[in-house]
Amino acid sequence: MGGMNGETLMRRILDHGSRADPYPLYTELRRTPVCRQEDGSYAVSTYHELLALLHDPRLTSTHAEREAADGGQLPPSFLGMDPPEHDRVRSLAMRQFGPPHSPSRIQDMRGELESTVRKLIDAFPEGGEVDLVDAFAYPFPVTVICRLLGVPHEDEPRFRTWADKLVASIDPRPGEDPAIRLREGAETRRELALYLNDLVEKGAHGSGDGAGDGSGDGSGDGMLFRLADDHDAEGGPLSRLELLVTAVLLLIAGHETTVNLITNGMLTLLRRPEQWERLRREPEIAPRLVEELLRFEPPVQIIPQRGALADIEIGDVTIPEGSVVALVLASGNRDPKRFTDPDTFDPDRPDIEHLGFGSGIHSCFGAPLARLEAQIALTELVRRLDNARLLQDPPPYRSSAVLRGPRHLTIGFDRVL
Ligand code: HEM
Repeated sequence: MGGMNGETLMRRILDHGSRADPYPLYTELRRTPVCRQEDGSYAVSTYHELLALLHDPRLTSTHAEREAADGGQLPPSFLGMDPPEHDRVRSLAMRQFGPPHSPSRIQDMRGELESTVRKLIDAFPEGGEVDLVDAFAYPFPVTVICRLLGVPHEDEPRFRTWADKLVASIDPRPGEDPAIRLREGAETRRELALYLNDLVEKGAHGSGDGAGDGSGDGSGDGMLFRLADDHDAEGGPLSRLELLVTAVLLLIAGHETTVNLITNGMLTLLRRPEQWERLRREPEIAPRLVEELLRFEPPVQIIPQRGALADIEIGDVTIPEGSVVALVLASGNRDPKRFTDPDTFDPDRPDIEHLGFGSGIHSCFGAPLARLEAQIALTELVRRLDNARLLQDPPPYRSSAVLRGPRHLTIGFDRVL
């Protein structure tokens, strides 16, 4: 591929035909760490340059949701804000989520996560085939976000319909009109926000804190209600609109990413029986294994749209003010200047580290939850599926190059243990 320039490369990376294995293209792309594209945007692909830019206040995130906000009636979430607004909303939300501001709500969810995983696996067909995406990885995080927010069990099917539509709205389909898809996405976000608004209204007049008494349907409990009531916090509480937009963000940011981490994880393990066996024998390696997965097959491959607020000199390039910048995180994770044998999946790396959750002020808010979900899911699947094998390799992928993962992952197994 010697002669191929960076522009052509980015086009090939975005092409659906490259989805199963974009990594050789990233290797080529890293020859030009900061590469100008034909439309005037820039693609950054090497670890140290990515890290520097993720921490650079001259790169704004207010572009990130422009597309989503257009036509929608909801303002941007904190993912699409810069400081100081970003920091205010994020830290108010963070107070409800775990350390350092409160006891870890996430570790408290462990039992709930384990029982959700157990039920999903119990429902697999006896001896045969299962699509791990539809039967497991896809429903799991929706249930978890419902519990986290405090959505009552009986409303989960409705919530799931919205989640389906949201995933569809961020995954381009060949031959369709993107404007229609984006409008549908905006409409879904609005419906979801209206539903959550109703729930907060009811919760506010409802049973109060139903936690622990076992009688509750969840109403009055959950992050949604705690956030609405957080009058003690500096800068708080969130306005109702901020609250709703944040709740919708948690669903959007935490759903398909988690689906892809779990399915990428199963694919990686099924391709490496020795790693599968090892996790079965030593479940305590799950945290290291999940970190290495976030490096090796990160669900968020690219942060597609940061904006330069000033001229930014990086390496021997100046990114001019006003440029759009794509941060190719997945390429940074395979940069041989940072990682020894970057293309080898090795949970025993002495220095596991990655850009899979981004870095800097926007680094993943849900990381502790995502980690725990993936650790529990992979450990249980490996423990319970007897003689599992891939029935299609590579599997079919969703269209998105940004949130990359299999659309189906069909496996065969002898029985559920
Ligand atoms: C931000 C990855 C799961 C909530 C991010 C970013 C990445 C990421 C790369 C940075 C985006 C940027 O800089 O523009 C992932 C991956 C996940 C995951 C790989 C699963 C494997 C979750 C979950 C939640 C969540 C479960 C919520 C429950 C968020 C939020 C932000 C974010 C709210 C925005 C943070 C900010 O702007 O300050 N995530 N995420 N994520 N993530 Fe995650």
